[in-house]
Amino acid sequence: MKLFIITLLHSWSLVAISATNTEIAITRRDLNFTKLVNYDRFESETHTVTTEDGYILTLYRVKSPNCSELKDSEPIVFMHGLFLSGDDCITPGPSGSHCYEYASACHDVWVPNSRGTVYSRKHITYNPDKDSEFWNFSFDEMAQYDMPAVIDYVLNVTSKKQITYIGHAQGVAILLNLCAANSEYNDKINVGFGLSPTAWLDHCRFSVIQIDGTLSSFLTGFIEAGFNSEFLPRGGVYQPFVKLLCGTTDLSYPACSELLFTVLGNNSFQIPEDTMKVLTGHLPGGTSLKNFARWGQIYNNGFTKYDHGSVKNLLTYGELTPPVFDLSNVTMKWVFIGSENDYVSDERDVDTLMTKLSNATKCIVSDKTFGHLDYLFGKDVPTLITPMILTYLDTGKFECL
Ligand SMILES: *[C@@H]1O[C@H](CO)[C@@H](O)[C@H](O)[C@H]1NC(C)=O
Ligand SMILES: *[C@@H]1O[C@H](CO)[C@@H](O)[C@H](O)[C@H]1NC(C)=O
Ligand SMILES: *[C@@H]1O[C@H](CO)[C@@H](O)[C@H](O)[C@H]1NC(C)=O
Ligand SMILES: *[C@@H]1O[C@H](CO)[C@@H](O)[C@H](O)[C@H]1NC(C)=O
Ligand SMILES: *[C@@H]1O[C@H](CO)[C@@H](O)[C@H](O)[C@H]1NC(C)=O
Ligand SMILES: *[C@@H]1O[C@H](CO)[C@@H](O)[C@H](O)[C@H]1NC(C)=O
Ligand SMILES: *[C@@H]1O[C@H](CO)[C@@H](O)[C@H](O)[C@H]1NC(C)=O
Repeated sequence: MKLFIITLLHSWSLVAISATNTEIAITRRDLNFTKLVNYDRFESETHTVTTEDGYILTLYRVKSPNCSELKDSEPIVFMHGLFLSGDDCITPGPSGSHCYEYASACHDVWVPNSRGTVYSRKHITYNPDKDSEFWNFSFDEMAQYDMPAVIDYVLNVTSKKQITYIGHAQGVAILLNLCAANSEYNDKINVGFGLSPTAWLDHCRFSVIQIDGTLSSFLTGFIEAGFNSEFLPRGGVYQPFVKLLCGTTDLSYPACSELLFTVLGNNSFQIPEDTMKVLTGHLPGGTSLKNFARWGQIYNNGFTKYDHGSVKNLLTYGELTPPVFDLSNVTMKWVFIGSENDYVSDERDVDTLMTKLSNATKCIVSDKTFGHLDYLFGKDVPTLITPMILTYLDTGKFECL
């Protein structure tokens, strides 16, 4: 009888714990960046940066309440990728998120949000809900306008000479292009870490980008005719569907993780069930149709300038096809972190990129099943990824984990 009661109590407490975890996940799912940082008992500041072409960007800063003083190191800028937002670096929760790991080590952490994402849908003259001009951009403009504005802002506020950059996917392409076009930015970067870096996509196995490649010339024609629009905004009509599909019942996790990993790399176990529930409220981040089409161009053409279509290419570049980006100006130190199983950033494409750079090295993570989103949301982020970065920042050396 006694044993029975103990067993009963034990299973009750298990039920109670799992219910609480689900409740926490559902609460965290529906909180925006500042509210979520607050809920996780860290601290944040909200800054706004206006770019030269009038976009008003939100830039967050994350701190740990346990650091009375910040480390005397370069401020960290954590840059999200395509379809994502600054939420990426806090979504998994207090233990295991990029930004919280760095903040807990008393680094000064800054989180920009690209133009067109949920936190940066603002412009000094254009209204994103009414003016299609607002959506006339791709990652080229993020490199030309957003990133220099953000870097200069952070350096100014912190009175530092350099930042440390951590970029995921498109976040890498943005800084590459900035340093290629404006060589003086190389000197403003201590080191850049590229998580699942994307530049060349010749071997990309991500079906969304492959379809994008097929559609891109059609989409580009459409966009060149002036039909710029938003693409996959946060809170779109599909958001309740995503929440339902991936976050409501215990059965949805296997189905949803299977779906995600079939397209992104096939490890169904890296993203924990609770993180998946939280994610459904923080994906997608929102971008422009032009930026989506732009990545289809990259899939087709290699890491090249904007493809206007042959006639306008001839007028713009003097050639029918757009020229490859000249990366000879990129002298900053890069450490790329990749995986054998990454369907988006294939190791062979990372190698191509490295041949164009003068100071780049790579680490292929030991977990052979690591996929494109695992660098952000995987359960092994705090064992495989962030310790490597923190060690490098302390010692100037890294060991691939
Ligand atoms: C975040 O949510 C809070 C409360 O719902 C709201 O007051 C705030 O404006 C939101 N911030 C952004 C950037 O949307
Ligand atoms: C701060 O330190 C306390 C006491 O060690 C700990 O319980 C808490 O989780 C820490 N907070 C953060 C945000 O790291
Ligand atoms: C740097 O900050 C000061 C005020 O703190 C401001 O007056 C100045 O315009 C800023 N410069 C840049 C380049 O942002
Ligand atoms: C290299 O940087 C310089 C200085 O910013 C710039 O003038 C030049 O156009 C850049 N070269 C290329 C190939 O983009
Ligand atoms: C979009 O921006 C480009 C410059 O980046 C400009 O040449 C073009 O005219 C703009 N298109 C529209 C429809 O505003
Ligand atoms: C997918 O996972 C299976 C084992 O679960 C493995 O045999 C296969 O090689 C993986 N596919 C890729 C492309 O990594
Ligand atoms: C690469 O960058 C590191 C860190 O800035 C620097 O110490 C090293 O000298 C650079 N190497 C080359 C070949 O430029």
